[in-house]
Amino acid sequence: MEETSLSVVMAIGIGIATLGWCILWWWNDIRYALPVNLRCARGGMRLPPGYMGIPFFGEMLTFIWYFKFLGRPDEYIDSKRRKFGDGAGMFRTHMFGSPAIIAYTPQINKLALTSDEYFYQQWPSFQLMGSTSLVAVHGDAHNRLRAFVIRAVNQPNPLRQIAEMVQPRIIFSLDLWAQKGTISVYDEVKKVTFENIGKYFAGFEPGPRLDTLAQLFKDMVCGFRAYPLNFPGTAFHRALQSRKKVSMIFQEEMERRKKSEDKVAKKDLLEGLMRMEDEEGKQLRDVEVLDNIVSLVVGGYESTVLALMWTFYFLAKNPHVLKRLREEHTNIKRQRQNEEFITYDEILKCTYTSKVVEEIIRMANISAFVFRTASQDVEYNGYVIPKGWKVICWLRYLHTNPEHYESPMCFNPDRWDEPPKPGTNLVFGRGSRLCAGNMLAQLQLSIMIHHLAIGYRWELVNPDSKMLFLPHPKPEDGVEINVFKI
Ligand code: HEM
Repeated sequence: MEETSLSVVMAIGIGIATLGWCILWWWNDIRYALPVNLRCARGGMRLPPGYMGIPFFGEMLTFIWYFKFLGRPDEYIDSKRRKFGDGAGMFRTHMFGSPAIIAYTPQINKLALTSDEYFYQQWPSFQLMGSTSLVAVHGDAHNRLRAFVIRAVNQPNPLRQIAEMVQPRIIFSLDLWAQKGTISVYDEVKKVTFENIGKYFAGFEPGPRLDTLAQLFKDMVCGFRAYPLNFPGTAFHRALQSRKKVSMIFQEEMERRKKSEDKVAKKDLLEGLMRMEDEEGKQLRDVEVLDNIVSLVVGGYESTVLALMWTFYFLAKNPHVLKRLREEHTNIKRQRQNEEFITYDEILKCTYTSKVVEEIIRMANISAFVFRTASQDVEYNGYVIPKGWKVICWLRYLHTNPEHYESPMCFNPDRWDEPPKPGTNLVFGRGSRLCAGNMLAQLQLSIMIHHLAIGYRWELVNPDSKMLFLPHPKPEDGVEINVFKI
């Protein structure tokens, strides 16, 4: 009798534990997906297939497993396709603290990135960027600000000036690196890129002010990645404090310029944004100038550093490509008369270089994904993307999927002889939020390639260095090289 009741108790215990485990396992599906599917069933709609994970973490642990521990990020989507089928190019999930739809085909990414009436961009830390920065505003306000920013950094005239401004430091740094012999490209490129940003953004020369700014921006970048908890001791709090100090430094510079007797127009971005007028003759307010300087540094600094780092990496791994670049740039140099700097217009003629730059940025996958939020229920091919859910535009998978690029993991600049399949090259995003510095980024890579190709050889110290994929793809050693002048 006692044995029987023990077995019953054990059976009930196992039953409760199993039920508890199942509820935990399907928690987010029960909490988020079930109500949506019930609501939409009458209209014949349902959520895309997928799994939304456990409470609080959602699917983050699986994501981290593929990106951090396995080091095979693209298998994350592959594994979902094997498990759930193609799901019209979407899966439901719960990631980065929100129920979400993963978009992994060109069609769904096009829908999410070009339909501003259905999807909007929302930066998690707009307090850090500033409420009047390009990334924080929408609609007409965004169009107006974007026109200012593009005119200041992403059109031929500013690009001509920037090309001239950045080269002295690049030439100086390359020379210094060759004297050192062995360097970490990531660390060194970071220094020279920030010095150049200081110069062409605000005319700041290397020195204590620029060192302070570098530290403040470092704190801010940490804040962007941190959970937005604002009390002393948190990374987010430190980032907000740093943001205030950054604003003060730029504000002081603006005041100084307004009072200055020196009426010769400076050619930097700060001056450009301060003086520019829209079609109605209106200038930007001080706060808009400040917020947009900050968002341009945040958007352009780390991304450019990573792209430059990958330039050294891929060219070291592909000597046949470097050989062709040497030919192209030696020819360009031969046609110049004693000029040390390559010009923006000469760069436009370097057709092989432009293919190499495209290929570096495709393979670098600096922006693995971008986020949108649905402003209403959106229907697509029988599936619903519910209002308020995030859409994670999985750009990386567009660039690494063999259905779009032949042997996608091979570095092959000649693939750019043909245009890519429509919607498969979204390295700079798409639609109204297309990167505002894409031409500037490409220019900076081309300039570095020019000086490397005509003057240096280098080899990777750790050619088989482990790859890290979070927060951005990067070899673990930051691309350590031995570098020599030729
Ligand atoms: C290789 C380097 C770069 C890559 C891969 C890159 C990538 C991107 C991507 C994917 C977006 C779209 C974000 C979205 O749709 O949510 C974007 C937006 C943006 N990028 Fe870049 N970027 C690079 C360099 C730069 C540079 C050099 C600058 C400026 C100096 C810059 C400034 C911006 C800004 C301001 C936006 C927001 C545009 C808007 O909201 O209208 N980026 N970038």
